[in-house]
Amino acid sequence: MNESTFPGTQHLPSSIEPMSSPTPEPSAPGHPFDAAPGAEASSTPDSATAEPDAETTPTSHRTVVPHSYAEMPRPTAKLTAEDVQPVNDPHGAIKIGPTGRPLPDLPEVQPPTRRGPAQVIAMCNQKGGVGKTTTTINLGAAIAETGRKVLLIDFDPQGSASIGLGVQPHDLELSVYNLLMQRDIRPDEVIRPTKVDNLDLLPANIDLSAAEVQLVQEVAREYTLQRVLEPILPYYDIVLIDCAPSLGLLTVNALTASNGIVVPLECEFFALRGLAMLTDTIGKVQDRLNPKLEIVGILGTMFDGRTTHAREVLDRVVQAFDERVFHTVIRRTVKFPETTVVGEPITTYAPSSSAATQYRDLAKEVLARCPAG
Ligand SMILES: Nc1ncnc2c1ncn2[C@@H]1O[C@H](COP(=O)(O)OP(=O)(O)OP(=O)(O)O)[C@@H](O)[C@H]1O
Ligand SMILES: [Mg+2]
Repeated sequence: MNESTFPGTQHLPSSIEPMSSPTPEPSAPGHPFDAAPGAEASSTPDSATAEPDAETTPTSHRTVVPHSYAEMPRPTAKLTAEDVQPVNDPHGAIKIGPTGRPLPDLPEVQPPTRRGPAQVIAMCNQKGGVGKTTTTINLGAAIAETGRKVLLIDFDPQGSASIGLGVQPHDLELSVYNLLMQRDIRPDEVIRPTKVDNLDLLPANIDLSAAEVQLVQEVAREYTLQRVLEPILPYYDIVLIDCAPSLGLLTVNALTASNGIVVPLECEFFALRGLAMLTDTIGKVQDRLNPKLEIVGILGTMFDGRTTHAREVLDRVVQAFDERVFHTVIRRTVKFPETTVVGEPITTYAPSSSAATQYRDLAKEVLARCPAG
């Protein structure tokens, strides 16, 4: 397996600045989140049929970092409601996706020709409730459908990925915590199959919160998860790690053990605020612990294309991260909370729903960007 690169993802944008400082500070010209000159702020979502917004001039001169959605400048490249629905051009050649870029033809995923060693991908964003767990479960299930062997690691003491796959965290005798902290525990004692073919789970529960404290005493503490995973990588094609909403030692362990990161990002204004801190942490892990680590992609989640707001946020993210933003976005639907209740992925709960299709499309993009695909 060539595990050297995810294309075009070696370097993180240096120009992302935090949007959370109490006083507005000047930022570099051309900053992707800069206000456009003369741009008007909008604070109300419009409907899908709203008029396209007025033209704005390119970003480059204004330097005020916005602090609220009301202050948020208009994006420079305008998306209209029509853009949000994929539309064929009159000749059927170009399809514009929800990110405002032409949709590439994603090739059908071929069955795997060999097994492992697995690519390890962390689902990471320190902001809570952005769709990390939902993406881990459903991307994992969609990849498993292609015949690849997938391991999901619940790396959050909340145990949400375990619950989402029908495992009750408080019933667990052994969890990822035991694997991390007790050298006499073997992975096969903790990993369990799920109801989905080719999809295994390394579950977690509240015990894992103790690991965050106990690991501090360990030698090479940042490499603990990597050491534990090493012997099982040959048995899987993809390992997905569901990180907790923090940038603490557990998340650093996840990033150190990974080849790639997927950053789920809720399509709302506050989602942009933590990105600078996240990219800073990723940069530090790349420099000091794991030079192989790369951003596989940024995923827009809970997208509601009927609002100007969601489109503007997505537009901003595309301005900042460009081709690293997945063409696939996950739209807001009540189906996801329902799947948590039944404890199974959307791909089995509602296999022909558009939500299931979105995660299958994401699986195609991830596998296309991932050399092991
Ligand atoms: N596309 C979506 N549409 C509607 N609801 C969604 C969508 N994706 C996730 N949700 C719901 O949003 C909530 C938060 O999602 P999820 O648990 O995946 O986020 P998270 O980032 O893992 O949260 P945490 O940071 O607490 O671990 C859940 O109730 C989930 O069912
Ligand atoms: Mg979660």
